[in-house]
Amino acid sequence: MSALINAALVEARSRHVPRLAIVLGSGLGGAMDLNDRVEIPYGDLAGFPEPGVSGHAGTLALGTVAGVPVALLSGRSHYYETGRADGMRVALETLKALGAEALVLTNAAGSVRADMPSGSVMLITDHINLTAANPLLGETGDDRFVGMTRAYDAELCGRARNAAESLDLALAEGVYMWFSGPAFETPAEIRAARVLGADAVGMSTVPEVILARFLGLRVIAFSVITNLAAGMTGAELSHEETRDRAPEGGERLARLLTRLLEDWG
Ligand code: HPA
Repeated sequence: MSALINAALVEARSRHVPRLAIVLGSGLGGAMDLNDRVEIPYGDLAGFPEPGVSGHAGTLALGTVAGVPVALLSGRSHYYETGRADGMRVALETLKALGAEALVLTNAAGSVRADMPSGSVMLITDHINLTAANPLLGETGDDRFVGMTRAYDAELCGRARNAAESLDLALAEGVYMWFSGPAFETPAEIRAARVLGADAVGMSTVPEVILARFLGLRVIAFSVITNLAAGMTGAELSHEETRDRAPEGGERLARLLTRLLEDWG
């Protein structure tokens, strides 16, 4: 219900019907240029997250990139803020109601691989949900049994690889492991993550991927690496580091996304 009301409000303020939505992670808010931009604060939209984390603005912006109408979400709800994994549900339902066909998720993440340093951009090809949380807990009906075998859209991943190649931009690939946060991981947890098959670790994105697949949105996701994970350098981790380092990879990710949109067709 909220989603339809939100969609009507958005349609009244912007003439753009977004074909895809992009969720910008911590410190990545300034990265994308949007033409003919209209901004709507989350506070005007029922059920949208309350902006809580510094580095997250809390605005839905509509406009075009390379002529393609898009919705840009700066700010997301995190599981660690509320203990609920479905904090982005109404926001994603609203984007679906507006007509979006795909969701581009971005985040800041720690790297588990020494050969993927801060500043790298990683295409997420799969994930591991290390929390016991799921945004569909309590959902009824058979649709809740969402298939996750092809959660990360193979065709969109292919387009991202082509876009990176055409820009001569290094694009790492790997598995993202979702930790609940807000405390960072321990070195032992990072060693375990590596053994279990993770390439990057972070505190977001996975619930949104599950919700998006539940809603029938195609998904593509990227991590901007802001640090080597706990225990890999001896330095303590901090949110300030995440926020301050994100723009470096974020600028490269923005170029990649722009090229992806130029070829959207
Ligand atoms: N761990 C979890 N989340 C993160 C990290 C990290 O090392 N870096 C940025 N977000």
